[in-house]
Amino acid sequence: MSEAKKLAAEKAIEYVEDGMIVGVGTGSTVAYFIDALAAWKDRIKGTVSSSEQSTARLKAHGIEVIDLNAAGPLSLYVDGADECDPRKHLIKGGGAALTREKIIAEASAKFVCIVDPSKRVDVLGRFPLPVEVIPMARSLVAREIVRLTGGQPVWRDGVTTDNGNVILDVHNLSIVDPVAMERELNQIPGVVAVGLFARRPADVVIVGGQPPQVL
Ligand code: A5P
Repeated sequence: MSEAKKLAAEKAIEYVEDGMIVGVGTGSTVAYFIDALAAWKDRIKGTVSSSEQSTARLKAHGIEVIDLNAAGPLSLYVDGADECDPRKHLIKGGGAALTREKIIAEASAKFVCIVDPSKRVDVLGRFPLPVEVIPMARSLVAREIVRLTGGQPVWRDGVTTDNGNVILDVHNLSIVDPVAMERELNQIPGVVAVGLFARRPADVVIVGGQPPQVL
């Protein structure tokens, strides 16, 4: 699948324009995008990064990383996904970076999502849904998730997010109404972010292949 990820990432470079500040996601597909973006480093104004991992890779290429507060609204955000449905609703957060990813997606006029073909599904939920939670609320949030969804939350043991929080991965969901589930889970006290990108879905999905498919 890594060839498909690379092909999707390289296609996404077509959305980059001179003088832009580019929002950059996290993960193995985005790593290929960052590598391709290196050729643009003197043509763009800089990037806003969604994780320490992506920041390190951007800086290793000499690409400028700017704080979102200084950057203002962005025209482009490029990121991967763990699952993508036909309406471009996504599950994200396999790399634990969902909160910052969601913030940058919200700040961006266009969200280009880059995936390999294995990420496409009809109904979201086969990939366990990541939820970032304030540590003291972990058990409370887990109980509420069971009550509200019937899914099984599993603590991603040993993982602390860049924001100092923990992740619950919710198994056995069939998410027929992603917008409603995102709204409902967001209201549980202690939830920082839900890895459903439905209220703000992707605008464009690029599926890596020969040639890449643009949805
Ligand atoms: C990071 O937290 C995630 O949202 C990633 O975008 C997602 O897990 C996709 O990762 P890969 O590109 O490594 O498959």
